[in-house]
Amino acid sequence: MSSQTPDVQQPVLRGVDLTKKYQVGRSVADRLAKREGRALTALDGVSIEVFPGEVLAVVGESGSGKSTLAKLLVGSETASSGEVVFEGKALSPHRDSVEARRIQMVFQDPYSSLNPRLTIGSVLTELIRYHRIVPRDQVKAEASRLLKLVGLDDDALEAYPSQFSGGQRQRVAIARALAVRPDVLIADEPVSALDVSVQATILELIADLRDQLGLSVLFIAHNLAVVQHLSQRVAVMYLGRIVEIGTAAELFANPSHPYTRALIASIPRMKAGSFNSEFQVKGEPPSPYSVPQGCRFHPRCPLATDECRSVDPALIPVSAGDTESMHLSACLRIDALPPMPEAFQPPAERSSL
Ligand SMILES: Nc1ncnc2c1ncn2[C@@H]1O[C@H](COP(=O)(O)OP(=O)(O)OP(=O)(O)O)[C@@H](O)[C@H]1O
Ligand code: SF4
Ligand SMILES: [Mg+2]
Repeated sequence: MSSQTPDVQQPVLRGVDLTKKYQVGRSVADRLAKREGRALTALDGVSIEVFPGEVLAVVGESGSGKSTLAKLLVGSETASSGEVVFEGKALSPHRDSVEARRIQMVFQDPYSSLNPRLTIGSVLTELIRYHRIVPRDQVKAEASRLLKLVGLDDDALEAYPSQFSGGQRQRVAIARALAVRPDVLIADEPVSALDVSVQATILELIADLRDQLGLSVLFIAHNLAVVQHLSQRVAVMYLGRIVEIGTAAELFANPSHPYTRALIASIPRMKAGSFNSEFQVKGEPPSPYSVPQGCRFHPRCPLATDECRSVDPALIPVSAGDTESMHLSACLRIDALPPMPEAFQPPAERSSL
């Protein structure tokens, strides 16, 4: 299968060399030890492109910088350096309301982002009116249309957030994000707090919305299993960097970074044999206050050599010499990775190859 993104156009949204440092205040321990506050690098030179009509998954352990990336792209936080480019235009840190409207976000806990005192109808109609999405006499019909789009009926217009289940509330949050007709939806772990059966219905909804509306989606998740059938491309993050990116088919068939292999090995149905025991990552990631020299994954990597402890690998095409390839990995020892056993290739990916 080609490693090109299908129907390559210009990216709708780009993060270019984004870095975010947080200055963290002095803790009690710091004061006792007479230490200054410390800087933490949450995101370290990340470049990422979201193409029209694709679901791009961003996956990684807690603390890898997924939400920080989302916040910079949506504009709720400002980058320490780098820029966010929407439809070819660099966005200023203070976006105007039209620019802000084009990229919307859905969070893990929709309850915290919905006003408990407002009915869903009020939330939606207020937004539709404020942004003049439709003429005034069509506002109510537009709110109904949005609810239908996310699989809810008109009864939801009169209901308050507390009257919904977790899955329904996430549908409401998606309807609210769609009310301003965005081009890009950033969903930050939207199913992590839901039961597994409900998770599947929300994933299906997101896939349907992509198909129906041609929406671009940046979908953040902890584990690869969740995004396997939803996303066209997958970016794997580790300690503030993207360490591998490629189409979902490429990434599952030929994971080309030891950390991606570890994430795949942690998918329960793929646990078996030596593949799992070799690549399973143990322990916590290193502190973001003291990122390891060289490859930041080396303290946990079963393939690490002395070179890995001194050289910081860049993202390069997995197939040497294929400069057009969009399957990239930041590993110095791609060639040392054993071939993936057939048994670990998910059925969907196998049949599509
Ligand atoms: N406002 C902040 N001030 C200080 N440090 C922060 C702040 N926000 C995030 N961080 C730190 O930046 C790093 C990346 O955080 P981020 O929330 O982006 O990770 P994440 O991948 O989304 O994790 P999770 O899966 O737990 O949501 C973490 O070490 C986190 O503690
Ligand atoms: S560069 Fe070395 S330490 Fe880093 S992932 Fe590759 S083999 Fe492991
Ligand atoms: Mg997060």
